[in-house]
Amino acid sequence: LTSERYGVRRLPFSPLSDSDLAFFEGLMPGRVITNPEELEPFNVDWLRSVRGCSKLMLKPQTTAEVSQVLRYCYERNLAVNPQGGNTGLVGGSIPVFDEIILSTVLMNRIISFDKVSGILVCQAGCVLEKLNEYLEEQGFIMPLDLGAKGSCHIGGNVATNAGGLRLLRYGSLRGTVLGLEVVLADGSALDCLASLRKDNTGYDLKQLFIGSEGTLGVITAVSILCPQKPKSVNLAFLGCQSFAKVLETFTTCRAMLGEILSAYEFMDEKCMELVEKHLKLSSPVAGSPFYVLIETSGSSSTHDEEKLNNFLERAMTSGLVTDGTVATDDKKIKTLWSLRERITEALTHDGYVYKYDISLPVGKLYDLVSDTRARLGRSAKNVVGYGHLGDGNLHLNITADSYSHSLLDAIEPFVYEWTARHNGSISAEHGLGFKKKQFIQYSKPSEAVLLMQRFKAMLDPKGILNPYKMLPSSS
Ligand code: FAD
Ligand code: MLT
Ligand code: ZN
Repeated sequence: LTSERYGVRRLPFSPLSDSDLAFFEGLMPGRVITNPEELEPFNVDWLRSVRGCSKLMLKPQTTAEVSQVLRYCYERNLAVNPQGGNTGLVGGSIPVFDEIILSTVLMNRIISFDKVSGILVCQAGCVLEKLNEYLEEQGFIMPLDLGAKGSCHIGGNVATNAGGLRLLRYGSLRGTVLGLEVVLADGSALDCLASLRKDNTGYDLKQLFIGSEGTLGVITAVSILCPQKPKSVNLAFLGCQSFAKVLETFTTCRAMLGEILSAYEFMDEKCMELVEKHLKLSSPVAGSPFYVLIETSGSSSTHDEEKLNNFLERAMTSGLVTDGTVATDDKKIKTLWSLRERITEALTHDGYVYKYDISLPVGKLYDLVSDTRARLGRSAKNVVGYGHLGDGNLHLNITADSYSHSLLDAIEPFVYEWTARHNGSISAEHGLGFKKKQFIQYSKPSEAVLLMQRFKAMLDPKGILNPYKMLPSSS
């Protein structure tokens, strides 16, 4: 059990009683799940690395139902774990003990879309990919995209402040989310669902809930600014002979592609080996220690292709890249993207995955991978590096045949100390959840953590919302 491995104790929340179950069944008949087999996938995380033992999952359909559930749980002192698509990578989305799982799976209604402003308002349980498909029909797209798009919910994305593959172009959710509706721990609903680009009336309360990982309130609806669907998209998949060349290729393409650059991702050759070996994907480009994926999005294919070709010519003639391929049609674009997007999945087939999500000054990004590889030697199966290079975000992953405490001790706190020494962040985009919460001090001063704890105590005085997550347990 997770609680044993991580040495946490259950806090004195009330155990679930028959009268609690009767209350919930009365509130939402047929949407109260107690069958252990049905609960199983919601008690274990996507990486299958942590597991809880909740005996109850509730599936509200409306904000009013979420309100009634939380009001009741607050009075009864029952702990609650908000859950979206359960694709989170830091153990935040599943209970640690027997917290009630409050799932947004049935809160999947689009409330409105304004074609003039591009503002979408929807319930929190809408699946990201479904939203994107809906928008594409109207000539728009979601401002974020990630490998988990087929399962993750927009509420979960906002709760984790997910970054992803388009952040370079459309910015963080802190800019594109215009409003939120949130139900607080005591059941009161906070309607900050504004659909305005500009609104300077008081503190921007929604920001507190973006990235709060279910610890401050349950997000029930989201208002988000969506960009126009680009008319022309091109993708280049290129091989580089060193990380220095990866960096120089980035500065060159940023200068030459300018406003049409929409993604700059990188992966090392180990990643490529793993997607080929475990997922049987084949790459059209081989034999390089590093690969980069460059996407352009614009409104004129002639203009964009001319710019991209000029850049590619420069990159090839100056030896920045040694091999590559370009895609302009949807099918090939998807195939090339999957080489990058499916690394996460390939890693899970390689064994137990130790996953790190680090922000660093971009020039230092790969040094952490090399140093970790040298440190671990043969005790690790694979040490790989990939990520959102354009955002200074490295995904360092280590695999081993099975979980080993001594290997974990060799990795942590080494990786966190290394990151802090180079002024990085120990969580760039995945959050802290359950697995990383004790390491927050590597990236935040104690005064900041204290203030966070005071916000938590103010908004959730009984601590019923996602306990044991995000903030370090006080000793
Ligand atoms: P869950 O996993 O269900 O929950 C995540 C956290 O949010 C939990 O703490 C939960 O309690 C809380 N939460 C969920 N819904 C709500 C709500 N309505 N109100 C309050 N709290 C809530 N992340 C990135 O940033 N960038 C990536 O590129 C990226 N790629 C990924 C690729 C794969 C293959 C996978 C598996 C994950 C990836 N992730 C990425 C991780 C990312 O955090 C999630 O995919 C996504 O944002 C979580 O959404 P979810 O609905 O699955 O939330
Ligand atoms: C990604 O960029 O692929 C995601 O953040 C998932 C991961 O880190 O593996
Ligand atoms: Zn990522």
